[in-house]
Amino acid sequence: MEKKVILITGGAGGLGVATGNKLKDFKIVVSDYSEDVVNTAVENYKKNGIDAIGFKSDITSEEEVKNLIAFTKKQGSFGGLVHTAGVSETVNNVDKVFNINLRGTALIVDAAYEIAEADTSIVLFSSMMGHTIPANDKYDEALRNPLDEGSLAIIKEFVKDDSSMMYNFTKRGVMLIVEDNLMRFGKKGSRINSISPGVIMTKMGLKAAEEHPEIINQMLSMTALGRTGKPGDIADVVKFMISDDSRFMTGTDILVDGGLVPSILKHAEQ
Ligand SMILES: NC(=O)c1ccc[n+]([C@@H]2O[C@H](COP(=O)([O-])OP(=O)(O)OC[C@H]3O[C@@H](n4cnc5c(N)ncnc54)[C@H](O)[C@@H]3O)[C@@H](O)[C@H]2O)c1
Repeated sequence: MEKKVILITGGAGGLGVATGNKLKDFKIVVSDYSEDVVNTAVENYKKNGIDAIGFKSDITSEEEVKNLIAFTKKQGSFGGLVHTAGVSETVNNVDKVFNINLRGTALIVDAAYEIAEADTSIVLFSSMMGHTIPANDKYDEALRNPLDEGSLAIIKEFVKDDSSMMYNFTKRGVMLIVEDNLMRFGKKGSRINSISPGVIMTKMGLKAAEEHPEIINQMLSMTALGRTGKPGDIADVVKFMISDDSRFMTGTDILVDGGLVPSILKHAEQ
């Protein structure tokens, strides 16, 4: 039988690579922001026995995202999307965090919808930090519609110039995008969910740990399982979300954080 195709954005990054290396039964399209990065990643996947092909695409460019989806469609039946492309607050630029994490997510979801078929599974990357932002009518409307002119300005009223706060807001936005898309994907028989990793020791996680060791130590002390996550801890769950084993699951988020957020929320209540 022909292998289904899974598109991985951020396919050269920590969680993208960890996930891609688990998808032995699929053909994967590896996408990232630069050609060199994509080519190296594809070589490495192939060394691990993964059927991989690359396509460079900047997730903030509508045109490049459309080209990526057209390329993916040509590879065969669209099994799903693993959308990991994103940046952390360490880029220190609220506009960049918004554009890559949230506008980029809206662009790829809209484009992927065009080629979604029965049993396509879309997995977006939120974060445990998205769970720390409460519901609010004003900013939620802007988070749900990041492609609208004016949304960024509304969110900036709340996050000011704080890139960490913008990161947390964009990750709440990812969960709202899932919520807003489940019915239209459902009509095609396809599914859309998100995963919210905790502190995972990829390059992104290590950089954050280096820059804020005190925060990481405090988080560790509140984590039920007493350790940070490994990329494989996330990749195994994404593999399940992509597979038919999760066939009745859509419109939801899976928090994979070793028990940190429940502990933070309980602490805040006391
Ligand atoms: N590592 C963690 O602790 C952690 C925790 C929670 C959530 N997450 C989320 O998981 C996802 C993956 O994180 P990671 O740890 O693998 O990070 P990473 O930095 O290793 O990978 C992210 C990838 O996205 C790519 N990327 C960045 N900007 C892009 C753009 N404009 N166009 C296309 N690609 C772009 C990068 O080149 C990189 O390969 C992110 O969305 C992140 O917010 C990570």
